[in-house]
Amino acid sequence: MATHTPVPLCDIGITTRELRPQLDEALKRVLDSGQLINGPEVVALEKELSDYCESNYALGCGSGTEALSLALHGLEIGVGDEVILPPYTFFATVGSIIRCGATPVFCDIDPVTFNIDPYQIESKITPKTKAIMAVHLFGQCADMEPIWSIAERHGLLVIEDAAQSLGAEYKGRRAGTLGAVACLSFYPSKNLGGFGDSGAVVTNDPEWYERMRILRMHGMEPRYYHHMVGWNGRIDAIQAALLRVKLPHLDRWIAERRQAAKNYDALIESNHLHGMLIRPMEAKNCLHTYNQYVVRVQSGKRDELLSYLKASQIGCEVYYPLSLHQRPCFKNIGYSFGSFPASEEAQKCTLALPMFPGITQAQQEIVVHTCAAFLRQTVRSAA
Ligand SMILES: Cc1ncc(COP(=O)(O)O)c(C=O)c1O
Repeated sequence: MATHTPVPLCDIGITTRELRPQLDEALKRVLDSGQLINGPEVVALEKELSDYCESNYALGCGSGTEALSLALHGLEIGVGDEVILPPYTFFATVGSIIRCGATPVFCDIDPVTFNIDPYQIESKITPKTKAIMAVHLFGQCADMEPIWSIAERHGLLVIEDAAQSLGAEYKGRRAGTLGAVACLSFYPSKNLGGFGDSGAVVTNDPEWYERMRILRMHGMEPRYYHHMVGWNGRIDAIQAALLRVKLPHLDRWIAERRQAAKNYDALIESNHLHGMLIRPMEAKNCLHTYNQYVVRVQSGKRDELLSYLKASQIGCEVYYPLSLHQRPCFKNIGYSFGSFPASEEAQKCTLALPMFPGITQAQQEIVVHTCAAFLRQTVRSAA
């Protein structure tokens, strides 16, 4: 059916190809050194990451999921504690809360930014509330100022799930410095994509840093003396060395994502689709990194458009088709359909279009023209 070349949702090969000689060199350096666990590459990555985020400390770990666990255990959140989070996020955000023994308490999202609605948080606070998990979804920071004042009023910790938003800014401050601890993911499609799984935690606090550092090494300090029950949460030296090659290019890639978002905005406008596809919004005082470019499809045709794009060999995805409170594994935790209207509306109408550094104008035109072909035909047949 498609007469154009396919457009992938995400092309991670572009950045790898661009840096291939430096990546090969980094790999060789680690293999030649024989230091595969911890060592200078990990230490250097951690320093470069904390410099990038403008924070005091960073600790590499096995994945973004692991970063969330390190943060929760590091902040001593566990059985009997409640953590407030949005129901519209990736599963790991809630999974890590449950696995540390705490209870997740969902709070609906802002329908425009898809991030937690800070003005609904206070009604969720109980004497058991210990923390607010601010997820920076799709590349944009949550609205932190009201979250900070609620946290201060009630003595709560703020954790950032910044897995999708490394490099994003809120009022001139980078994600990673907006809470007690921030959690990053280097899953290959993330802003800083690694080569397999890896992640990091970032903090300004020396005590939490120390706890997380020890937890990541089975809770031992010194070797074979355990004061806490930790686990193996380390990042591989090979992964650290490869990420070090990519990190200096991150801001340029974010600029490319931002330019691509502008191009989409203009194409949606010039193709007169603005009533049918609602563009993502960059909130005031935020720098959006567009890890995903997520539109809202009006008129209940999202699933049809999704199928049409896929049939036309255009990569697209629904993040997320079900809010967390509706997942089968949570059917007994007390929420029902209608509990979080904005989240449930988002799951029905959102669609992520192809977005990656290096996406071309021609590829973006194909995406928008294909959307236009479908949407105009639907409007015509409804008339
Ligand atoms: C919001 C969010 N939190 C946490 C994670 C978990 O990261 P990882 O896949 O590196 O474990 C992801 C990954 O997609 C995510 O999008």
